[in-house]
Amino acid sequence: MIEFVSTGLPELDTMLGGGIPRGAVVTIIGMYGVGKTILSFHFLKAGLDRGEKVMLMSFEESPEDLLEEARLVGIDLSEATIVHIDALEVAESMMKVEDELSAYISSAGTSRVVIDSINILDSVFDEKERWRMMVSLKEALKMPGVTAYLMSACSESNECHTPSGILEYISDGIICLRTYRASSTESSVRLIEVMKMRKVSHWIKPRMFSITKNGISIILEGEFI
Ligand SMILES: Nc1ncnc2c1ncn2[C@@H]1O[C@H](COP(=O)(O)OP(=O)(O)O)[C@@H](O)[C@H]1O
Ligand SMILES: [Mg+2]
Repeated sequence: MIEFVSTGLPELDTMLGGGIPRGAVVTIIGMYGVGKTILSFHFLKAGLDRGEKVMLMSFEESPEDLLEEARLVGIDLSEATIVHIDALEVAESMMKVEDELSAYISSAGTSRVVIDSINILDSVFDEKERWRMMVSLKEALKMPGVTAYLMSACSESNECHTPSGILEYISDGIICLRTYRASSTESSVRLIEVMKMRKVSHWIKPRMFSITKNGISIILEGEFI
């Protein structure tokens, strides 16, 4: 029997057939501004609400900015561990970053981890190294009881592909966030789609979502494409 971890969004849990299988490493793909970081706030908050220890490791934003952004969508992450690591540190030693990550996770008994975003590895390492670094980061996250989100930008040609195409293979799950415009006269809508989730029979239809002052809201009904 699979043990599920809630995404913090009941509709997304439904799309996943119950939630994320505990222990999975899930990549969230999408263009900047589409709502990836906010999706991760819901995931972390769901953990805090259950009394779990949660951690966000950001390569992009400061803990203060992230806390404020979460607050503006009605999510209090003040109990979360938020760590900022800059690109220079990653370039100097990825091993050190992974050690730091492992230390945080095991010392606090962390059960949910978000890495925002993985694209730091694309900019710091060349093609040859990239695969090795991504596999090694995934392995570092594969600790007992830890469920993780890896946030990734999309490639230029496909909003549901990562730039290097590596995470599609090594992640246990892929969720894509994108925008869609039916015609030039209509306005864009945001769509969320589960592309892959090992071990579960998930929905394959994209669903529409919006972002409001209460965060992400997914509409399960209706046809959009
Ligand atoms: N309070 C809010 N009300 C409505 N939309 C919001 C609010 N806060 C953020 N957004 C939307 O969310 C987007 C940022 O989401 P974010 O998760 O940071 O994107 P990503 O991590 O994919 O770059 C903004 O571009 C904006 O469209
Ligand atoms: Mg973001």
